[in-house]
Amino acid sequence: MPGVQFLFRGQKFLVIFGGIYLGLVLLLTIPYFQSHALYLNAVKFPFFANFDTPERYGLAPNRTLNFKLQTPDNETLGAWFILSEPYYKSLPAIPGEVAKHIVPALKERPVILFLHGNAATRAASARIQHYQGFSTRIGASVLAIDYRGFAESTGKPSESGLVCDARTAFEWLIAQGKEAKDILIIGHSLGTGVSGQLAAQLAAENIQPRGVVLLSPFSSIHEVLETYNMFGFIPLMKPISTIPGAAEILKMAVVHRFDTLKAVPNITASVLIAHAENDWDIPDTHSDILFQAFLEPHLPSVDHPDNPLTTTQEEWDVVVKQQALRNAKRGEILKSLYLQNFGRIDEFTQLGRKVVLVKTLAGGHDYLGVQEGLLDIIGKNFDLL
Ligand SMILES: *[C@@H]1O[C@H](CO)[C@@H](O)[C@H](O)[C@H]1NC(C)=O
Ligand SMILES: *[C@@H]1O[C@H](CO)[C@@H](O)[C@H](O)[C@H]1NC(C)=O
Ligand SMILES: *[C@@H]1O[C@H](CO)[C@@H](O)[C@H](O)[C@H]1NC(C)=O
Repeated sequence: MPGVQFLFRGQKFLVIFGGIYLGLVLLLTIPYFQSHALYLNAVKFPFFANFDTPERYGLAPNRTLNFKLQTPDNETLGAWFILSEPYYKSLPAIPGEVAKHIVPALKERPVILFLHGNAATRAASARIQHYQGFSTRIGASVLAIDYRGFAESTGKPSESGLVCDARTAFEWLIAQGKEAKDILIIGHSLGTGVSGQLAAQLAAENIQPRGVVLLSPFSSIHEVLETYNMFGFIPLMKPISTIPGAAEILKMAVVHRFDTLKAVPNITASVLIAHAENDWDIPDTHSDILFQAFLEPHLPSVDHPDNPLTTTQEEWDVVVKQQALRNAKRGEILKSLYLQNFGRIDEFTQLGRKVVLVKTLAGGHDYLGVQEGLLDIIGKNFDLL
């Protein structure tokens, strides 16, 4: 009876799968596993990389300096400094010692501090493509770091640790003679959580970088759990939410918050948020939420009635009027541009600060930032071209 056997197999599969799922979710409540699941820093891809030979990963001979950064709390971070293409090309021959060229290269062109996402290292191929785009199409030098616990860097990752690492890299650029206003911070994925915290920290100290770019960002780890699809299609929280209280317990167990949404009011630099509509890891609604949070303080509020059933006609008239004012203001300050086959740009400038949202049609989660169209928009917005 093949039918019965098939049913039996199917049930067994479901039980095994359910067990694995429950096991994974339970593991996530344990900080050790949560940390590894979030940072994936143990996945040191490409494996056995030799960071002394960036040429082997696609960069031009002697264009990149491999060096170490020391954090204030004594971690040692692996880093690459990549000379901008215009500077490198202006040299009469392939340079000897790259270290000697850092200060002159920085004098000539702006610099991008790149804060990568989770898993893998600064030598991963998608990241190399980002450096190539930044240094060639935008013409900036690039500083890329591996956070503590990643690649050959010492220590283990934590939210405050990663922010400290990013700040250390920023300060290293300052120490090379670069002014904050010529440093553009670009974060990707998990790196946007780091960038958001760094931007808030700099603002609190009245330090203004050229700007902050958030590529494929998330609003907070809580929200990622809410919307994350395992393997691209299994909603992480859907099955667990059928058990009363279980989802809340899991969310309470989140120790690494990276709450960029909460940091928004503290960020004073110009911001560009970009997201691909075909991002299957983090849905582009995260970017909508962040952009709206930047816009919100500039829009008149609407006093929604507490109880619609007892609301009088006069009260409704007030709400309708407020809503109309809000829509009018939104239309007045928001400029939108649709670029055929590429995507759309929404932007506003208020109090001397510009905030841009770019939604692209292509790029997915990992290759959003290598699209020429987006690189051009970044270059133009931050006056880097
Ligand atoms: C910093 O780390 C080095 C080894 O990497 C160690 O010798 C030194 O004592 C540490 N200093 C502090 C202040 O922890
Ligand atoms: C790169 O620089 C080193 C010195 O740091 C030099 O020995 C080597 O020849 C240079 N490579 C090329 C291809 O010129
Ligand atoms: C934002 O700034 C306030 C006041 O300086 C501070 O209390 C708060 O912790 C900051 N929040 C973030 C997320 O940076």
